[in-house]
Amino acid sequence: MTDQTMYVILLGPPGAGKGTQAVQTAERTGLLHLSTGDMFRENLRNGTDLGNLAKTYMDKGELVPDDVTIRMLLERIGRDDAKAGCLFDGFPRTVEQAKALDVALTEQGDEIAVTVLIDVSNEEITRRLGGRVSCATCGSVFHEIFNPPNADSPCCDSIKMIQRDDDKPDAIANRLQVYADQTEPLVEYYTESGKLSTVNGEQSPDAVGVDLLAALQAVSS
Ligand code: AP5
Repeated sequence: MTDQTMYVILLGPPGAGKGTQAVQTAERTGLLHLSTGDMFRENLRNGTDLGNLAKTYMDKGELVPDDVTIRMLLERIGRDDAKAGCLFDGFPRTVEQAKALDVALTEQGDEIAVTVLIDVSNEEITRRLGGRVSCATCGSVFHEIFNPPNADSPCCDSIKMIQRDDDKPDAIANRLQVYADQTEPLVEYYTESGKLSTVNGEQSPDAVGVDLLAALQAVSS
């Protein structure tokens, strides 16, 4: 589907299913999946200064400061493997980040093709994040009820599941407030530029994926 260069943003509240959809969509389209949350967590695992700094914000459900996040993301999209396009998951999260991304893409003669908002209510998000677990070995994401790990899998068995520190109730509530205050204005930002497409995130993951691919196909020629 993507012989052309294509930059796509997955927008939505914490727990909307951005990561779940990004993994599947990247496999189907060949687009590079870039998650700023994953980049911060990888830095933390590697014990870098950036990772340790990010942790102080992430554990509370706050955003990592724009200057740090923008620098990290722009460095990443400057690498060769991002030149054919990317699927952004968790970036941008503020209008300042969105503007910085627009400037960087314009400088290289590109632009955002579409921003897909995965629309999910706060009640559903609280249910999803409270049950989210991931495999300590490979990082695959599951949900204790909606998408349970395979008890027979040699890698992702239920004993090896871990919970993210920011999926504790206090942090979830703060992340939802931070989303409303700092990230939701992006809905208007991308609506005004004619780049917003909305999918219903309260369907099965497969059904959301079908709608997401349709939104990408609508802007690819
Ligand atoms: P990040 O890692 O980006 O977290 P997030 O946006 O809060 O999103 P999540 O990963 O929690 O959820 P998701 O939408 O990917 O949902 P998932 O697919 O996992 O960011 C973490 C932190 O890093 C931030 O709080 C911030 O501190 C920092 N950060 C990151 N980017 C930043 C930036 N740009 N600027 C500043 N700071 C930044 O699904 C959730 C659960 O639901 C799973 O259990 C899944 O199995 C289940 N599920 C998924 N889809 C469905 C479905 N359709 N039906 C039922 N269950 C489903």
